[in-house]
Amino acid sequence: MTDPTPRPAVRVRALRRVFGDRAVLDSLRLDIARGEFVALLGASGSGKTTLLRILGALDGADGGEVLVPEARTVVFQEPRLVPSKKVLANVTVALPRGRSAHGLRALAEVGLERHADAWPATLSGGEAQRVALARALVREPELLLLDEPFAALDALTRLKMQDLVGELCRKHRPAVLLVTHDVDEAVRLADRVAVLRDGRLITDEPVTVDRPRDPGDPAFGALRRRLLDDLGVEAAPHHPSNAPERTEVGVI
Ligand SMILES: Nc1ncnc2c1ncn2[C@@H]1O[C@H](COP(=O)(O)OP(=O)(O)OP(=O)(O)O)[C@@H](O)[C@H]1O
Ligand SMILES: [Mg+2]
Repeated sequence: MTDPTPRPAVRVRALRRVFGDRAVLDSLRLDIARGEFVALLGASGSGKTTLLRILGALDGADGGEVLVPEARTVVFQEPRLVPSKKVLANVTVALPRGRSAHGLRALAEVGLERHADAWPATLSGGEAQRVALARALVREPELLLLDEPFAALDALTRLKMQDLVGELCRKHRPAVLLVTHDVDEAVRLADRVAVLRDGRLITDEPVTVDRPRDPGDPAFGALRRRLLDDLGVEAAPHHPSNAPERTEVGVI
């Protein structure tokens, strides 16, 4: 018999995190189902990284309930590779010894098997970030936490990385929380989008735009406008000829 209420991958209730006299997260509620891809938007300083760090157990909370799977990994904006280890050793760094075959498979998935024996310093920014992704996926996480993983990349590399992450997540099916400033990125990739503002999620809704998602699709545009509105940003008109486009939230 199937369980009518399957266990979610993430369950957060009444989460509170205070720095000084400011509650950065307050009464925050979030569920992520197994295999679900959630994108989290929010202005700079709204608490996105704080939430992600709590889910990754890199930081504690000041109140509330947080349930996450044991197997979880984080990818940050910068790849954070160990410079004194070659690429393959970086990918397998958290695995028991003798797992090179797993590492090579993960490198092949991100298209970098030929760089297994290279030093991190010889990689481009996009390649280094793909190594960081391979290092995260090789551990077969149930929860993948991505904190602006494409933000430091040029626009074209960024689009390619988005496709790669989408493809790998559909294949491996971890629950995903992607923190991003980029509304188009969120709508392109996510099953659900949430907006963090004033300590809680003021928006949390499924993305119903048909896949493959086209930024020119009216449903895509309508959701983009609504999200920018929730973020307090005025939507710029869409110019399909100026691809690739990014819609970013400014610093308040
Ligand atoms: N360890 C800390 N001590 C004190 N204040 C902190 C600490 N960590 C975060 N903050 C504050 O909490 C707020 C939220 O920070 P956080 O890094 O979560 O924002 P963010 O939404 O990720 O922003 P950005 O989009 O710029 O990355 C900020 O005002 C920040 O200064
Ligand atoms: Mg942040």
